[in-house]
Amino acid sequence: MAVGVFDSGLGGLTVLDAIAAHSPELPLVYLGDNKHTPYGVRDADDIFNLTCAGVTRLWEEGCDLVILACNTASAAALKRMQETWLPKDKRVLGVFVPMIEALTERRWGDNSPPREVEVKHVALFATPATVASRAFQRELAFRAIGVDVEAQPCGGVVDAIEQGDEILAEALVASHVEALKRRMPHPEAAILGCTHYPLVQAAFQKALGPDVKVYSQAQLVAESLEDYLKRRPEFLGEGTQSRYLTTGDPERVSGKATQFLRHSIRFESA
Ligand code: DGL
Repeated sequence: MAVGVFDSGLGGLTVLDAIAAHSPELPLVYLGDNKHTPYGVRDADDIFNLTCAGVTRLWEEGCDLVILACNTASAAALKRMQETWLPKDKRVLGVFVPMIEALTERRWGDNSPPREVEVKHVALFATPATVASRAFQRELAFRAIGVDVEAQPCGGVVDAIEQGDEILAEALVASHVEALKRRMPHPEAAILGCTHYPLVQAAFQKALGPDVKVYSQAQLVAESLEDYLKRRPEFLGEGTQSRYLTTGDPERVSGKATQFLRHSIRFESA
């Protein structure tokens, strides 16, 4: 009954950790495509092909349901996968919608027309590919009206995290927040629209100031997965074992993951 969790690298571990804390009995198989990270600077075809390859590998582990714990893949590839590629007996879910439902005060499956919501000025921090896709604005427009979104492509942050360079990652976060604030001086909410960013969430909060509510996805995705599996238990795959797989160098990736998550993680070669 395993569920797969996929990301371009280390970022999806923030989501995996939250799912593991929320559903401790659920076996999880993680796949980080560290060999090809970052996805955020690739074109949509490239992201589609790499994501399909990663998801196929997770099916081999007995995971019929795979969470794309990667906003870039969710934004650039998920719709195309669902429309053109996915077999009927498999499911792939993204990380965007739970976040937007929280922001727009909606419960799962509430398809009522868009309406006014409390928050009016939202800062979105994401990879260049996610920002370029405008997927966040598209999903938001289905649910809310009158929300002003200012998006900041945060070039370099994922790379710095993957290299294990926390100081560089934090410096880049400060400069991206400053750039955004020049265009939107007083955001009420900030969305961390990349699963790597919770690893430097304190740097975002510090640069934004204490009055800005920072939304990160991990907890929201964990709750939404539990809810999904209650409704669709048939998508609990046959796998029984939790594993961490990487397309990169397992030694190196284990070291970086342990450094950022502050607990020991052992990766195996995918
Ligand atoms: N964690 C991925 C995301 O949520 C990272 C993207 C990348 O590889 O650039 O977008």
